[in-house]
Order: sequence, then C-alpha cells, then structure tokens
Amino acid sequence: MTPGATETVPEARPSLPRGVDFTLEETYRATRLPVDRAMTLNPEAYRSADYYEIERQRVFAEGWVCVGYTAQLAEPGATLVATVAGQPILVTRDKARKLHAFYNVCRHRGSMLVAEDGHRDVIRCPYHSWGYALDGRLLGAPYFKGLDIPEAERAAYGLTEVKDFRKEDYGLLPVRVDTWGCFVFVNLNPAARPLEEWLGDLDRRLGHYPFAELQLWRRKPIEVQANWKLIAENFMEYYHLPWVHPELNTVSSLDNHQRFQGPGMYTGMCTTPLARNPGLPIDVDALPAMPGLTAKDAETAYWILIVPNLALFLLPHHLFTLLYRPDGVTRTIESADMLVHPDVLAAPGAAAKCAAIFTFWDAVNAQDIAAVERVQKGLAASAYPGGRMCFRFEESIHRFQNIIIDLMTGTRRTPPGDEDLPTARGDSRSGFSLTESERQAKA
Ligand code: FES
Ligand SMILES: [Fe+2]
Repeated sequence: MTPGATETVPEARPSLPRGVDFTLEETYRATRLPVDRAMTLNPEAYRSADYYEIERQRVFAEGWVCVGYTAQLAEPGATLVATVAGQPILVTRDKARKLHAFYNVCRHRGSMLVAEDGHRDVIRCPYHSWGYALDGRLLGAPYFKGLDIPEAERAAYGLTEVKDFRKEDYGLLPVRVDTWGCFVFVNLNPAARPLEEWLGDLDRRLGHYPFAELQLWRRKPIEVQANWKLIAENFMEYYHLPWVHPELNTVSSLDNHQRFQGPGMYTGMCTTPLARNPGLPIDVDALPAMPGLTAKDAETAYWILIVPNLALFLLPHHLFTLLYRPDGVTRTIESADMLVHPDVLAAPGAAAKCAAIFTFWDAVNAQDIAAVERVQKGLAASAYPGGRMCFRFEESIHRFQNIIIDLMTGTRRTPPGDEDLPTARGDSRSGFSLTESERQAKA
C-alpha cells in the first residue's frame, strides 16, 4: 500500500447471498425507494441464470408479449411463428378472418408443426401428417382409427381402432392472443389481466394513429450480446443522447424531451417539437405525416416501451420498432422493423426516403448496441453493487425496473401515470413502494 494511503471499502449494499429468492419483495428493497434515493436493479438480474429462469416464467410467460404485426396476418391462412418464454407459438388467421394462437406442437407425438411464417389452408404436421384447421381443430389423423387400412391388412393389426379417441379432444393447444392497432400480442397465462388493462391509457393517448393500416416495410434481425433489459433501459433513457447519438441529438435533443407517461405497463416520453434538420433522413419535413394526426403529433416523436419487449419510435411519417426476444441471460435477438402508411409510401421519392430512414435508425441502433454490450461486459464485475439513477433523465428506468419487480414478485398492479401522482415534477416521485393494503393483499 502507498505510504499514507488508507484502505477504503466502498459503501455499497451487501451483495445478495447465495440462494437469494428473486420472487421476494425484500430482495428489491433498494430499488423500491423513490428514484432520487433508489439503487438500480441488482446486477444479478442481468447475469444470473436463476434470475433469468424465473423472469421467463413471471415476466414473459405472464405478460402480453408482442410477436409481430397484423400486416403479417392480413389474409386468411396466414401463419406466424414465434417463441415466447422459450415456448414455440403459432398465430393464425382462419378462414372467417379470426385470429388464433396456439402452442406450435402436434398433438400426436409432439413435433413442432410450422417452422416458418407463410400461408396455408391446413396446418399439416410434417412427421405423420396429422392435419389441423387454422382454428386449431384436428381434421384428420391418417390410419389412426384403422379406417384407412386396406381391408386385406386389417386382420394383421389385431386392433381396428385406437380406444377412447375423439378428434375433438386433440385440437391444437390454444394461447391467448389480442391486438392493439398493428401489434399482435400473446399471453401464455390463461388467467392474466386483459391486454387492455396491460396497456393502460395508451389507446387514449395514441389510438388515433392509423396503426392498423401500417404496412411492414422492412425488417432486420439483429443479435445483441446483452441481457434484454439493458436494451430496453437504454431505449427509454435519454441521458446518453448527446454522447452516443450526436446526429439524432440535432433533432431530438435533451432540451425538447418530455415525459409522456400515463398509467399502464409502459414507459413513455416524447420529443416535442422535433427540431428541423433537413440533412437528416428522419427530418419531420422529409415525408408527409401519416393521416389522422393532431398538429402536435405532426411535429412530435413518441418513444414508448411496452413491457416487456416492444419499443416504439413513433414519428409523424413512420413507425420504427424493436422487438426483443431474450435468448439467454446475455443474448437477445432483436427484430428492427419499420412500418409505413400507404399514403406516405405514395409520396414522391418515398421508397428512397424510407430506405434512408431505415439506414439512419440502423446506425443509431448500432450505437446503442455498442453501449449496451459494453454494459453487459462491465456487469461481469462482481464488485459492482448496482448504481444510482439521474432522476431528471432516468425516472423511466426506475419505473421499468419497478414494473419488473412487480412481475417478479407476483404483484399485479398498473403503475400510475403522471396525472395520478400528486407530486410536482422533479421531486421524489415513487409510486412503487407497496401501500399497506397492497402489502396485506400480497400476504
Ligand atoms: S407428431 Fe405430428 S403427426 Fe406424428
Ligand atoms: Fe440510444
């Protein structure tokens, strides 16, 4: 030790003991504090396999997870495959145009049924050719009831029919599915709260956008070597804007970022008004606004993270989204998608301008990915006990982390919006400490 130096031990919350219970309220006490006193979520949430497994069950298998867009399921016969909480899922549009979701598994011996998005009249298992209707009914099981066996061979089987078998009992296993605008959500928990309750007041705030008419213009799958929450948290805070995104900062700077937060399982903010920068592809004047917007919408960008896996970059002339799918503790598959209204696509030069917009967001996303992958590497440092949040710019992260804690601890509640909080902007807003009645309800 250098002469005169004293050994100091950083003040930190004690690290979690081995075998800690990630479903207990007590585990998250430091993050439940008001934002100006709170610690960030314990680093184990981003690096522990145990945490990941519980999160899969309690966040992704209990929540409304976005799996794609209505534009992918527009026609009868359209099928979309997805993975939610590690479960293989299939979404279909039946001949009566009704939407369905199922576990993507054959009721015979469990083969995965459909491997790729597409269109089909019948869902045919590739293994032994059991066929299912798009509404999930089992239509046929070749040879299964003996009836299709040639007369001359029947005696050799000694069994003419599988006993107690009714086709009605072997339809596809259903999963809840619902839509909001162009977004298709599924929920693996039959008893979960409805999507409408999950989304809170989002429809009141943004339901006038012509979401249902948007076309899926381009997609790009991206692998990120980071826990999905790091990506979500990076999306919702704008503290990093000047340093990570100098170009984006010219139209969407710290100064014109505002809260846009109502009650619901989401975090929201907006940039209003968007500054003009004709040199930037996303400039508000680059393309006409989509129809139905208010004058304020026409010069505003909304940044909404719908828990757990859908990030919206909603600009007047397009919607860019990131869909997250956790694929391990430190790996996430993103789909970077751009959706555009047909009226906007009809504008002169729209295709080239949309291509430039996609390239712009792709570059911004690459900047973000570099940042979050670096965080993931830093979080390997076992001495790091979690950090503090800048309440001016990171209150959204406090909200998000507390929503995750609610789900991990089995606390069903809709976090309030700003208008529900009696406190003025900038003070110790919390909204997350359990009230006495909530504590008793949980007990
Ligand atoms: S597993 Fe599907 S038909 Fe046999
Ligand atoms: Fe960013």
